Amino acid sequence: MPVVAKGLEGIIANSTRLSDVLGDIGQLIYAGYDINELAGKVSFEEVVHLLWYGELPNWRQLNVLHETLRTHRDLPQGIIDFITSAPKDAGPMDVIRTAVSMLGLYDHHVDDTSVDRNRERAVGITARISVIAAYFHRARSGKSLPPVRKDLGEAAHFLYLLTGETPSDEAAQTLDVAYVLHADHGMNASTFSARVTIATLSDMFSAITSAIGTLKGPLHGGANEGVIHMLQEIGSEANVDAWIENALAQKKKIMGIGHRVYKVLDPRAPHLRAMAMKLTEKAGDPKWLRMSERIATIMKEKKGLNANVDFYSATVYYSLGLPTDMFTPIFAISRTAGWTGHVLEQLADNRLYRPLSEYTGPAVGKKVTPIALRA
Ligand SMILES: CC(C)(COP(=O)(O)OP(=O)(O)OC[C@H]1O[C@@H](n2cnc3c(N)ncnc32)[C@H](O)[C@@H]1OP(=O)(O)O)[C@@H](O)C(=O)NCCC(=O)NCCS
Repeated sequence: MPVVAKGLEGIIANSTRLSDVLGDIGQLIYAGYDINELAGKVSFEEVVHLLWYGELPNWRQLNVLHETLRTHRDLPQGIIDFITSAPKDAGPMDVIRTAVSMLGLYDHHVDDTSVDRNRERAVGITARISVIAAYFHRARSGKSLPPVRKDLGEAAHFLYLLTGETPSDEAAQTLDVAYVLHADHGMNASTFSARVTIATLSDMFSAITSAIGTLKGPLHGGANEGVIHMLQEIGSEANVDAWIENALAQKKKIMGIGHRVYKVLDPRAPHLRAMAMKLTEKAGDPKWLRMSERIATIMKEKKGLNANVDFYSATVYYSLGLPTDMFTPIFAISRTAGWTGHVLEQLADNRLYRPLSEYTGPAVGKKVTPIALRA
């Protein structure tokens, strides 16, 4: 009898040097570094270097990476035209997915599949995805598109483009840590889809487009927006218990709770929780966090499930004043580091992904009835 691993649970689909997720002990490792060692000590750009080259950069390497990313921020005019003409009510993830796909149209070396050219594509997508996201938000709000700047790091630059103002150090650093925590995560669904796409020897743009489409779903990156919608629907602390009880009775999934691999607390969650606490204390509106804490407690007690990365990142972004439908794009911006790293790794030792399926259709032997005689 064939064994079907539904959702590929427990299947090791490939090996990777980028990151490891140890679900039983709640550990996340990027290329030998525990995430707790990295968070707050290194910048997102240092993590990008770690994921692409296997080592944290020295000063010279970091400066080269900064310079390279910052000189790749400009968007082709055709993509700006698309962003400004896209329907204002379009989902930002849909616009980002389409615009990243369009970037491939402006790659003038499509036939060059060398490692160097693919590294350049990784830089180009990583540098531009946040510009695409921020520009769409500006365009749909009827605001002008500020020219890109070269004096800001990735997180600060995104906030600058979004608001048109240079962000505070605190806001930029908070987002930078969130980027670090989201940069990679083993063989998660969107990374897997990027690897499946590139393994056909398609191209980097197609692979990242697949990944963005996969991340969008509410069971993956879309959960962080779902958390805020849930909190808004619940409305007040007094409603939490009854709302959750009702949702569980209807077999609804509580967003930001549970994980396929982590059987204990997601190691990224405490960092985001601490950041959320700091921000909400300052903003003087601890209601959302208190509601979140109550939800986490109920879910732990009733279902034995823990909060995941999306649970507290939602409150962090909300407290930073970021638009709710930009939460998943922020996830995509930081995960581009991992996706592109995985694509490069896949290409370095490629084999097509082609699993089997268990057939559950009718037994073979049916005969074709002429169409005029079919019921
Ligand atoms: C992440 C997730 C998709 C993992 O799913 P999975 O490994 O396929 O696990 P399942 O959906 O099979 O869930 C296993 C059990 O836990 C329950 N469960 C899991 N997550 C739950 C949640 N968020 N709310 C309520 N129940 C949940 C399921 O109902 C199921 O219970 P049952 O055995 O009584 O039917 C799932 O936990 C989920 O949908 N979470 C909410 C979305 C989310 O936060 N996603 C971001 C992940 S980083």
